[in-house]
Amino acid sequence: MARITLRQLLDHAAERDYGVPAFNINNMEQVLGIMAAAAATDSPVILQASRGARSYAGDIMLSKMIDAAEAMYPSIPICLHQDHGNDERTCLSAIQNGYTSVMMDGSLKADAKTPAPYEVNVAITAKVTELAHLVGVSVEGELGVLGSLETGTGEAEDGHGAEGKLSHDQLLTDPDQAVDFVRATGVDALAVAMGTSHGAYKFSRKPDGAILALHVVRAIHEKMPNLHLVMHGSSSVPQDLQEEFNKYGGEMPQTWGVPIEEILVGIRHGVRKVNIDTDCRLAMAAAIRKVGAQNKGEFDPRQFLKPAIAALKALCKARFEAFGTAGNASRLTPTPLPAMAKLYANGGLSPVFSHAKAA
Ligand code: G3H
Ligand code: 13P
Ligand code: ZN
Repeated sequence: MARITLRQLLDHAAERDYGVPAFNINNMEQVLGIMAAAAATDSPVILQASRGARSYAGDIMLSKMIDAAEAMYPSIPICLHQDHGNDERTCLSAIQNGYTSVMMDGSLKADAKTPAPYEVNVAITAKVTELAHLVGVSVEGELGVLGSLETGTGEAEDGHGAEGKLSHDQLLTDPDQAVDFVRATGVDALAVAMGTSHGAYKFSRKPDGAILALHVVRAIHEKMPNLHLVMHGSSSVPQDLQEEFNKYGGEMPQTWGVPIEEILVGIRHGVRKVNIDTDCRLAMAAAIRKVGAQNKGEFDPRQFLKPAIAALKALCKARFEAFGTAGNASRLTPTPLPAMAKLYANGGLSPVFSHAKAA
């Protein structure tokens, strides 16, 4: 099946009230595990590559892996998305490489660690959106800086994330500013800051409303019911995976992620894309540790990676089922990019900032 744009996929998700997990990919095993889960549940899928993934695997390898996934699973619509694009070049080169969606993360400057002034974010996001829409590609923007409401810090692991102390104002997206931002940029989806952060160490206790601010999502959704919201840092860091990882020699201090039930509250209030990377990493790493611990003589990488793919498949299947994504692949026929470009040009897509609910 042809690749699908984020906009078409999230419009469908909004019409049918479901959410779509966006899983990060870096290698063949992740693509195999995620696609097997999508096929087993008849789910459309968002595969997203960070700048780190693109430099790890290389653009040619990543694009060919997606070609292979399409050939292996012709009935599954695949959205290939640039995660956290830091500038125009990253977003445009993603489009050259077959991505149907890009995130222009203008909440940070191009160094991916310094919070950017609002006007700078608007200007670069509007520019990327104008160019991407000319060729039918979707755009996700970000307003507010991801980080912990407990510590007031962003997280700078893997070279992406705010450095230094952040104020509550920076850590929580302002709903009125969100309306202005969406109108000024024309983005198809908006990532919001609400207390989630990337990585395993999100919360030092089971999160409540003081540290996971779902009221921000509700307030933005009330102002723009047609807007597709994106939750970053949405790994749940399940207790059983932490225990499995530690049982076989890992050393992960007790931590809490975003509970599935809180994500479901988000989905009821306009969240359509749910970013998950850490859980996938943890599921695979725990499975790899188990083989290493139980068979110290093992040296065939396939014996480590087969159970890792199976663990990833189980995790992704659970997320597709929980978010209501399951059963929707067969309901979608991807609109080709040139036709999407025409829809943008003719005003044929419902404006995401309008107050009217999508038809
Ligand atoms: O954006 C956050 C994702 O977890 C990607 O991480 O930059 O290490 O690939 P990465
Ligand atoms: P996690 O680290 O919670 O999996 O978040 C991933 C993410 O937001 C990628 O953009
Ligand atoms: Zn993210």
